[in-house]
Amino acid sequence: MRIAIIGGGNMGLTYAKAFINRKIVRTENLLIIEKHDDKRLQLVQEGVAQVSSTIDSSIVSYDIVVLAVKPQDFRAMAETLQKYLQSSQVILSIMAGITIQQIQDWLLHRKVARAMPNTPAQLGYGISAFTIAEGQPNDLISTMDMLLESTGKSIFLKDEKLLDAVTALSGSGPAYFYYIVQHMIEAGVKMGVDENIAALLVKETMHGAYQILNSSKQSIDELISMVKSKGGTTEAALNTMIESEVGPNIQKALQQAEKRAKELSGGA
Ligand SMILES: NC(=O)c1ccc[n+]([C@@H]2O[C@H](COP(=O)([O-])OP(=O)(O)OC[C@H]3O[C@@H](n4cnc5c(N)ncnc54)[C@H](OP(=O)(O)O)[C@@H]3O)[C@@H](O)[C@H]2O)c1
Repeated sequence: MRIAIIGGGNMGLTYAKAFINRKIVRTENLLIIEKHDDKRLQLVQEGVAQVSSTIDSSIVSYDIVVLAVKPQDFRAMAETLQKYLQSSQVILSIMAGITIQQIQDWLLHRKVARAMPNTPAQLGYGISAFTIAEGQPNDLISTMDMLLESTGKSIFLKDEKLLDAVTALSGSGPAYFYYIVQHMIEAGVKMGVDENIAALLVKETMHGAYQILNSSKQSIDELISMVKSKGGTTEAALNTMIESEVGPNIQKALQQAEKRAKELSGGA
């Protein structure tokens, strides 16, 4: 298999490393096209792929072309790419908010898959949801699964519209988690705990709680009850959260993210 990645930023490099680590492709069969000089130098030093500055006719020799540029750079890139694409080549886009229809129209190309990854992909703990263009064979689903699972877990969704909800849940999700962690650490510091110690306590607590959540058969309500006792400290904190409507406000925030994803893809 030969894979070309257009855009050698955070995500492009993450995918290149994952494909190599999982032995999906060999370095000589992996190309990263990156227009930024500094980033190209860094990519050459990484040594995971061939590196080039522009899209040219050599792209025809790649089976899969991953689009990892920013959504606002897509149209300019598409004008060049569409001149060379062969109908057998598969396009995998990880660009937020650009629909399969838009990709097909701009590239004059049918074989398109679209995925929404997240940043834990860098460590192999990502989760991506993806969909494929109508009329494409089912083996495209298994090929995409195989590629995306090199960065973590992957889920196929038939309905492309759900990728906006995925963007709100898992695409942006790491940032919500960091935000909550940040405020818990700040609370610890205000109580007089050294920042490093507060950070360790909070991070390990989140990690431990995730392990229980992921392995337990109990419901989330039951898990909360295991920590909480009547008139105790956890109840005092949770009652404050309930009074401040933290839960409904989190839901509202995610709905805003979904709305923004729809606006960006022109579907709002
Ligand atoms: N980061 C996330 O959490 C996340 C999550 C899900 C999806 N995504 C999607 O992943 C994509 C990439 O994100 P990123 O954070 O990796 O972006 P990034 O760091 O900005 O990387 C994109 C790179 O592509 C280069 N580029 C732009 N047009 C090009 C062209 N025609 N030919 C070659 N290189 C070109 C850019 O160069 P210049 O800087 O010089 O323009 C930049 O270095 C985005 O579409 C984003 O929506 C990101």
